[in-house]
Amino acid sequence: MARSALLNVMVQAAMKAGRSLSRDFGEVQNLQVSMKGPGDYVSQADRKAEDILFTELSKARPGYAFLMEERGAVAGDDGQHRWLVDPLDGTTNFLHGIPLFAISIALERQGQIVAGVVYNPAMDELYTAERGGGAFMNDRRLRVAGRTKLTDAVIGCGVPHLGRGQHGNFLVELRNVMAEVSGVRRLGSASLDLAYVAAGRMDGFWEVGLSAWDIAAGLLLIREAGGFVSDFAGGQEMLEGGSVVAGNEVIQRALLKTVKKPVTPR
Ligand code: IPD
Ligand code: CA
Ligand code: CA
Repeated sequence: MARSALLNVMVQAAMKAGRSLSRDFGEVQNLQVSMKGPGDYVSQADRKAEDILFTELSKARPGYAFLMEERGAVAGDDGQHRWLVDPLDGTTNFLHGIPLFAISIALERQGQIVAGVVYNPAMDELYTAERGGGAFMNDRRLRVAGRTKLTDAVIGCGVPHLGRGQHGNFLVELRNVMAEVSGVRRLGSASLDLAYVAAGRMDGFWEVGLSAWDIAAGLLLIREAGGFVSDFAGGQEMLEGGSVVAGNEVIQRALLKTVKKPVTPR
């Protein structure tokens, strides 16, 4: 498949970091793990992958700024471009030997996401999208699922855990959603959740409390696969506020309404 020079740069970087993550995934037990916060482990593998991505992307596009999970913000002289990078999204899965984790890279140009790559090295699934150019998994063009009834839909979500998020609010959202859908899934990697919606594997997804590097690439994948995304208020401040509701046009609208229903005692 012919890819643009920009996507090639992103894919090469993701593949190289992916090889490093795969090696470490095989030896997950030997990794030295340090605690960053409750339930949010950062491993050597994570840092190694981030170093590779930083080196590769800086070499290919000197002067672009970065927002990376471990390094934080790195200024660039270019003034127009910024990489948003999560070197290992799904850290808890990784540490438990569950092969649902990914590298997520997005490029922002003048504040707009123009390209995104999500790569799951354990399954060798590479998701790519460029603004206006469609979304792909490996060589296959992606399209969001066509189901229009919540009762037929499988919906992904993120579950707040120890020390993170509003547990009470989530339980209300879950109660609202599970009463109306065919099934609820929690994969444990927000970038892959969004990629799965783009691929039509899940019909929708919602989560709050995310960071820009978790979702920037995935949001573009969904849009380029014909899907819709909004924040919890129905606006487009997903990267700023960290909340996401996604699906095809009908499911997205219905899911947004459902998650936000007021509590009704049952
Ligand atoms: C996490 C994953 C998870 C989501 C969390 C994220 P990490 O990222 O995307 O699915 O529920 O909010 O922090 O810590 O594995 O990079
Ligand atoms: Ca993440
Ligand atoms: Ca991460």
